[in-house]
Amino acid sequence: MKYIATILTVLLFLFFASSCGRSSSDKQTCGEGPRVAEEKARGEKGPRPSGDELGFERTAVKSSEQKNFGAEKKNAVKAGEDELKRKSAAVGKFDLEKKTVLLNSGYEMPIVGLGTYSLSDKACFDAVTALLKAGGRLIDTAYMYGNEAAVGRAIRASKVPREEIFVITKLYPGKQYREPRRAIEEALAKLNIGYIDMMLLHHPGEHDVYAYKAMEEAVKEGKLRSLGLSNWYSEELQDFLPRISITPALVQNEIHPYYQEKTVVPFIQEKGIVIQGWYPFGGRGYTRELLNDKTVLAIAKAHGVSAAQVILRWDLQRGIAVIPGSSDPKHIRENLDLFGFALSVEEMEKIADLDRNEKHDWY
Ligand SMILES: NC(=O)c1ccc[n+]([C@@H]2O[C@H](COP(=O)([O-])OP(=O)(O)OC[C@H]3O[C@@H](n4cnc5c(N)ncnc54)[C@H](OP(=O)(O)O)[C@@H]3O)[C@@H](O)[C@H]2O)c1
Repeated sequence: MKYIATILTVLLFLFFASSCGRSSSDKQTCGEGPRVAEEKARGEKGPRPSGDELGFERTAVKSSEQKNFGAEKKNAVKAGEDELKRKSAAVGKFDLEKKTVLLNSGYEMPIVGLGTYSLSDKACFDAVTALLKAGGRLIDTAYMYGNEAAVGRAIRASKVPREEIFVITKLYPGKQYREPRRAIEEALAKLNIGYIDMMLLHHPGEHDVYAYKAMEEAVKEGKLRSLGLSNWYSEELQDFLPRISITPALVQNEIHPYYQEKTVVPFIQEKGIVIQGWYPFGGRGYTRELLNDKTVLAIAKAHGVSAAQVILRWDLQRGIAVIPGSSDPKHIRENLDLFGFALSVEEMEKIADLDRNEKHDWY
C-alpha cells in the first residue's frame, strides 16, 4: 500500500507539472494572474502591447471619440441654429452704419445704389465708374436697358474687388422667359464678372414661373446668388409665391412721394422680402415737379441738404432701398450722402401726405 501511495503521489506530481507548461490558449494559469499568463503567452519577448494592439482599448477610445464627436456635432448644430435665428431676426433690417441690409438669401445688399435705365454704353460706363469711385457699391441694370456689358466693363476696369460690388440684373418677358437658361447665360456673358448677385424677373408675364425656376437652378449652380421680382404687387405675389421654392429676396417697385404703395410695402416687408424703389424722383419727365415740391424743399432747407437727398432719406427711413438714376457724378455723390441727417416723425408724415397714388409707368 505504501508503495502504491508513493507511486500515486509521484504520478500526480508529474501530471500537474506537465499541465503548467501548456500554452496559454488552454486558459490554465496554474495560480498565476491573467497578466502573467498573458506575458507567458507572449514569451515575454517584447513590451506589453498597447491598447491599440490589443484592440479593446481602441474600441473604448472610439466610443469616447464618438461621444465627443456627438457632443461637438450637437454644439455645431446649436450654434448654426442660433446664427440662423440671429440672422433671420436681422433679415430686412437696415444697418445704417454699414449701409447694407441682410437679405433672406444670407447675402448683404447695399441699401443705396445706382439705377442705369436709359444710360447707354458710354454714359453707363462713366456713371458706374463715378459711383464706384464715390464709394457706391450697388448697380441696377437689366437686359432691357441694353447696358449690362457696359456695367461689367466699368466693374472690371475699377480697382474695387468684385466681392464688394452688388449687381442686379433682370430677365425680360417674352423670349427670355421662354428660354431662361439661355437668357441667364447671356447675362453672365455680357456682364462677365463671374456670378450675378441678384437676378429679377422684370415684370409678370407668360412663363414667369418657368423662368424663376430656371433662376433657382442657377442659384444651385452658383451662377446667381439671390433672386427677386420687379413689379409684383400683393395679388401677384400671393399667386406667385406658392409656386416657387426660393422666396424672393427683393421686390423692386415704383415708389416715390407721389406714389407711395402704403399697403403693398408692409405686405412685402412682413414676408422678410426687401423692397427697392425705382423712380425715386418720379422718373425722367417728372423729376422737376417732385424735386421742386414745396414740402420737400422746406424739409431740405431745414437740414441743409437737397430735395433729392430728402426723398432718398425718406425711402430709407421707410425701410426701402433706393437706386436713383443719374449720369452726373455730382448727383451720384450727392445721392450716396444720406447718412448725416435724419427726418423727424413729423417730416416723414408730411411727405406721407404727398401721396397721390400717381403711378408714372405702366408696370
Ligand atoms: N424694375 C423696373 O421696372 C424699373 C423701372 C424703371 C426704373 N428702374 C430702375 O430704377 C432706376 C431709377 O429710375 P430712373 O433713373 O428712371 O428715374 P429717377 O431716379 O427717378 O430719376 C432720374 C433723373 O433724376 C435726375 N437726378 C438724379 N439725381 C439727382 C440729383 N441728386 N439732383 C437732381 N436730379 C437728379 C437724373 O438726372 P442726372 O442724370 O442729371 O443726374 C435723371 O434725370 C432706373 O435707373 C432703373 O435702374 C426699374
